[in-house]
Amino acid sequence: MTLTLAEIKNKIRPTADFPKKGILFQDIFPIFEDPKATESLVEHIINHLKETGTKVDVVVGLDSRGFLLGPWLANKLSAAFVPVRKAGKLPPPCHKVGYTKEYGTDYFEISQTAIKPGQNVLVFDDLIATGGSAKAAGELIQLCGGKTVKYVFFVELTFLKGKDALDAPTFSLFQYD
Ligand code: PRP
Ligand code: MG
Repeated sequence: MTLTLAEIKNKIRPTADFPKKGILFQDIFPIFEDPKATESLVEHIINHLKETGTKVDVVVGLDSRGFLLGPWLANKLSAAFVPVRKAGKLPPPCHKVGYTKEYGTDYFEISQTAIKPGQNVLVFDDLIATGGSAKAAGELIQLCGGKTVKYVFFVELTFLKGKDALDAPTFSLFQYD
């Protein structure tokens, strides 16, 4: 039986002042303690993509929590899975882009050969805050010649307006103001 979005959302555990004072951390890992909730999460995302007729050749997952469901979504969509990793983790040749995220600056990389020019790409991550991470992923996909068709997140911190920075429509399951 598929869990409703409300039932899944109840499993997200908020923690005040983590990892820094003033940040309300939304921990998604309790969802993964329940296999039915995890499977339902995937079903809700796949249903949305079917309903919107989104054609996907490649799912790009963002290091590290985008790896939780990225390959699972790719499998369900009969698409490739390609990781975007923090700098220094992938063998060359890579494209590299710097970005500012909720708590600091970092670099993301992608293999130069993993996405073919013209492929439709879905970016998946657990959460969008400022949108810095997802925007950097979009820039890497552009450098590869791919076309980002959708950004998908479990959680969206709507008050940070992260999706305004992105070059394709977003879909999030759980929003926090
Ligand atoms: C978190 C989260 C997103 C990103 C969102 O990842 O998983 O990837 O921050 O923030 P933004 O929208 O402001 O860029 P984090 O970099 O903390 O690392 P992790 O996924 O490895 O835990
Ligand atoms: Mg992350």
